[in-house]
Amino acid sequence: MPGEVLGNVFRHYFIKTGEWLLGRQKRKLEHLKLALELSDGVYPSGFSDIFPVHMSAPELNYSDVDTSCLYMGKRLAAPLMINAITGGHPETAWINRELAAAAGQAGIAMAVGSQKAALNDYSVRETFSVAREVNSDGLLLANLGACCTPGEALSAVEMIAADGLQLHLNVPQEIIMPEGDRNFKGVLANISTIINTVSVPVIVKEVGFGMSRETVLALHAAGVRNIDVGGRGGTDFVAIELSRTNKKCFDMEGWGIPTAVSLLEGLSLGLEIDFVASGGLRSSLDMARALAAGAAMTAMAGPFLKSLVEGGAGELEKSIRYLIQGLRKIMLLTGSANIRELSRKPIVITGPTAEWLERRGVSINSYARRSHTEV
Ligand SMILES: Cc1cc2nc3c(=O)[nH]c(=O)nc-3n(C[C@H](O)[C@H](O)[C@H](O)COP(=O)(O)O)c2cc1C
Repeated sequence: MPGEVLGNVFRHYFIKTGEWLLGRQKRKLEHLKLALELSDGVYPSGFSDIFPVHMSAPELNYSDVDTSCLYMGKRLAAPLMINAITGGHPETAWINRELAAAAGQAGIAMAVGSQKAALNDYSVRETFSVAREVNSDGLLLANLGACCTPGEALSAVEMIAADGLQLHLNVPQEIIMPEGDRNFKGVLANISTIINTVSVPVIVKEVGFGMSRETVLALHAAGVRNIDVGGRGGTDFVAIELSRTNKKCFDMEGWGIPTAVSLLEGLSLGLEIDFVASGGLRSSLDMARALAAGAAMTAMAGPFLKSLVEGGAGELEKSIRYLIQGLRKIMLLTGSANIRELSRKPIVITGPTAEWLERRGVSINSYARRSHTEV
């Protein structure tokens, strides 16, 4: 059972601690352990403020509703991705193997976790490349911090024959970690250089703190055309880092922008950017809300990790299947024959999400007044 395997991982880890584990590898295992133990952050993602409008007479056959999409040149069964989670310690290989196999079987996308460890230590490359071995045709994304060098970016892409590269921004997490980075100068110029160096599309992503309109504008000016807003409301890396170091927080608890707000702020700019909605998405309804708002892709990390570790590969496969089936049902209920139609259906934005957006000058009434017959 994978749950037992992970138990062994941690027993093994604790035995080995102090002997040979590198700091980064140790941290990767602690992140996994704490992500499994802790609940989602206490502040919501904002998606419960978004209401797709029910259509009682949709004039559609359920079996004709098409959830598929084209993303980064590949046809997927649905706009859904297993977001970056792990790799870099020998005992994480099985997680990437199972996640990639499930993604391949279901026809969805997957990102591996940060490949930094494998750039310095050849022996752990297999913990990432295993994803490509078991999912030869699927859409796989490489992952590194946005401060990596262009050469490192090229190596990460090559390591898994990636279809795209995620560059993560995680400033709150870095500054809360005693061993974290402190200098973030030059990151935008570095992102531009990497975009011009690698031959695959680059997604700049947050890890649960969201992105403001100002950040999206700055990234766009740097040449970024794919953004994962990675908003607040799900996996909480402030809580994870505090638990890891046994510290109390007096400054950053709840920091970040809710995912729904981030997505709508970014979309409001009307720029040529494909947005990934992630951070606290937990259901087919959340996926439908994000796609109706205009996201090109949805992603989840914590829930897929929990399904796999707690229930095994079968449970992971089931949770992906249920998410896609649920999306198809909601598409039927909104009268959407395909994802493009869903993105044009009315949604009503209420509550704190509406209040935030109004205060920031983002018009939300047009979403509610979209014609339900428009396709
Ligand atoms: C155990 C764990 C490790 C993660 N490691 C990475 C990473 O290496 N790189 C990255 O960009 N994001 C990483 N993330 C962040 C996720 O990709 C995602 O942005 C975040 O968890 C929010 O999504 P969720 O609420 O669906 O979990 C990690 C998440 C988890 C749970």
